[in-house]
Amino acid sequence: MNLSERDRQHLWHPYTQHKTAAPIIGIARGKDALLWDENGKEYIDAIASWWVNPFGHSNTFVADAIYKQLTTLEHVLFGGFTHEPAVKVAEKLLPILPSNQKKLFFSDNGSTAVEVAIKVALQYFFNKGEKRTTLVSFEDAFHGDTFAAMAASGISLYTQAFEGMFVDVIRIPVPTPGNEEASYIALQNAIQSKPCAAFIFEPLVQGAAGMVMYSAASLDQLIEICQQNNVLTIADEVMTGFGKTGKNFACDYLTKQPDMMCLSKALTAGTIPMALTTFTQELFDAFYDNDINKALFHGHTFTANPTGCAAALASMELLEQPEIQDNIIRINKQHLAFQERVQNHPKVKTTRVMGVIFALEIKSENTESYYGTMRNKLYNFFISKGVILRPVGNIVYILPPYIITDSQLQKVYSIIEEAIEIV
Ligand SMILES: Cc1ncc(COP(=O)(O)O)c(C=O)c1O
Repeated sequence: MNLSERDRQHLWHPYTQHKTAAPIIGIARGKDALLWDENGKEYIDAIASWWVNPFGHSNTFVADAIYKQLTTLEHVLFGGFTHEPAVKVAEKLLPILPSNQKKLFFSDNGSTAVEVAIKVALQYFFNKGEKRTTLVSFEDAFHGDTFAAMAASGISLYTQAFEGMFVDVIRIPVPTPGNEEASYIALQNAIQSKPCAAFIFEPLVQGAAGMVMYSAASLDQLIEICQQNNVLTIADEVMTGFGKTGKNFACDYLTKQPDMMCLSKALTAGTIPMALTTFTQELFDAFYDNDINKALFHGHTFTANPTGCAAALASMELLEQPEIQDNIIRINKQHLAFQERVQNHPKVKTTRVMGVIFALEIKSENTESYYGTMRNKLYNFFISKGVILRPVGNIVYILPPYIITDSQLQKVYSIIEEAIEIV
């Protein structure tokens, strides 16, 4: 039996209807932007394996840092103990975050980073003796699959089975061009109608919605409304963080600063699962008390795992290298040139580019569902051509590792052009 068949005996995959899904592909190895399956077929990983590895697969700089850490201190509980890599992550990260971010809380994945932010928002008001139990989020948001993260996400096939079991959430329109006023008004109405604790958003780009983009000016305006009403703001940079939008963080485009940030994915360059939620001093201080009940009773066994921290330090060191920053600019220029080439195609509805993110919406007679027929046709076509792209309905997006070569990128563009013709 090959890997794919052995997998089928025992394993349950994420977001997969196993009855109808195509056979799972067994991947044997990866290097830079490439992956090879068990039969030796080569794939370009044009979505950096769910947006995690900016420096490519099997990066030896990150791997060496992990190995060194593994043979020094692989793990120690973070309750009552600390270690050099965790402290160093804080010392290296805080200077590049918005200046109001002062404290870091470690967890294991993007959903838990969001879960922590939401719990802190709710308990912040609880600790102050103020009852605020409603969240505000964007329509079509995606913040993860744990319960509070699901609550904050848009209603979809991801969450429909659990409707009615969530924290109270009001969803407002995304301020995409032309919808800014509607978004501001909806936020104001939400704040007037319910005791809102926090507004959570994916800054500037909603990843899982299909790389939906909106302006920094409109997000500044929404944060301003929250600040005027003492509503906390949570920037979920799980996808956008660490260079994807062209700056280190999407929040770097803003004039306002969020109260909390959620980071994961590229944090450890796609190696060890790890996440961070970051906070202002004011938030931390609301939990700092002689009363133990005011503490944050949240934690995970592998909180601040030293090998994860070592990977994060190596990853941040790579991110600041001029060659990597040049790569981000290079990919952005290529995306803009491809956008120019493809945007007037009769089958193309819209295109958008930010940083290393490119998205193209194919015209369709029907409303395309997330995992609908067009999506499956496109996905299978890309896989047959040796390119890993996971369209969202009729939206094809690219979010490559920053080290993807020009010729690999051109191949991805050409295959997308071919795909437009076959659907
Ligand atoms: C913006 C955002 N937040 C949270 C998550 C959840 O992260 P994870 O899958 O690591 O739990 C994702 C995952 O795609 C995301 O894009």
